[in-house]
Amino acid sequence: MINIALLGLGTVGSGVIKILEQNQQQLKDYMNIEFNIKHIYVKNINKKRDIDISNYHLTDNMDDILNDDLDIVIEVMGGIEPTVDYIRHFLNRGIHVVTANKDMLAAHLEELETLATKQQVALKYEASVAGGIPIVNAINNGLNANAIHHFMGIFNGTSNFILSKMTHDNLSFEEALQLATELGFAEADPTADVDGIDAQRKVVITSYLAFNTFIHLEDCEVTGIRDVTLTDIKLAEALGYRIKLIGQASYDGKRVQASVKPCMLSNQHQLAHVENEYNAIYVDGDAVGDTMFYGRGAGSLATGSAVVSDVMYIISQLETKKHTLPPHFTLGESQTADRKR
Ligand code: NDP
Ligand code: HSE
Repeated sequence: MINIALLGLGTVGSGVIKILEQNQQQLKDYMNIEFNIKHIYVKNINKKRDIDISNYHLTDNMDDILNDDLDIVIEVMGGIEPTVDYIRHFLNRGIHVVTANKDMLAAHLEELETLATKQQVALKYEASVAGGIPIVNAINNGLNANAIHHFMGIFNGTSNFILSKMTHDNLSFEEALQLATELGFAEADPTADVDGIDAQRKVVITSYLAFNTFIHLEDCEVTGIRDVTLTDIKLAEALGYRIKLIGQASYDGKRVQASVKPCMLSNQHQLAHVENEYNAIYVDGDAVGDTMFYGRGAGSLATGSAVVSDVMYIISQLETKKHTLPPHFTLGESQTADRKR
């Protein structure tokens, strides 16, 4: 039996529970092992939830979880402090961690990767970049044979949703942001979405995955969409362009150059047609050439899908490990450890 603690039962945490419940049999068959959500950590245990919680142990007391017998902790509560302390604690105890928390990762990725490697446990974070798009796995595994020197794309669902609604439905910035918040796309503090900081964090994480190089937030220049007006959008449209918030980074073998800013894209460009909460990312590999990854960049089930796939990966590796260690066994190794750049 695999014992799991879920930290957070908001937009993403509820998506995780829904997927686990809906696909219970399929997941059990795939993983060939039983799993148990032993605790769910929330801020307010009396809050009305949109899922049935009667079968779960909800707690607002982290002490119930910190020293319990667990195999995997799923962190979808967000925030940097004290969350990073909890993650350190679990990794130090040899517990595998799955997280969607790009705020924390952008600030602590190097330290946490090092700790996970030292402790020989998995630190997985598929949901932290581009929500439901399996971009982390694509770069780490699917493009493993390539040296990557450039990526670019739409990394933030909320700002893309706002720009889409302003472009096509004539909504004001405020109306569109309100809608994105109601739909669960926006962060608890949507400033990070509209000021480009959420995309900046994802570019920092993706730079590590693509270039095997840690950069800091301040290494990625950032401008958000707050100052983009309906007039700008209409003017761009009249000229055959769309305004999109584009994150990109390139690597010349020594230095990463990274930015997030609103750009005018020709209507011919594929990214110009990525709408609403969808994200799309081009990754340029030296062998494969341009690849493009597209899908929902935010939302409960889309993000839950990425989280659950990380959990399934860990469980499948634990199962494999019981029998024999495959040559490519990756639990506890840095996500990009064996990639040559
Ligand atoms: P929500 O605000 O919807 O949910 C947060 C959950 O964590 C809530 O259940 C809340 O409890 C709990 N929580 C928060 N702080 C504490 C605390 N101090 N102590 C105990 N419980 C706490 O956030 P999301 O689900 O939207 O996001 C979660 C994480 O996933 C964040 O890191 C976010 O950046 C990331 N993410 C979100 C995506 C999205 O589309 N929303 C997509 C990709 C990543 P309570 O319910 O009682 O308030
Ligand atoms: N607030 C984020 C977004 C959630 O809108 O893209 C997904 O990371």
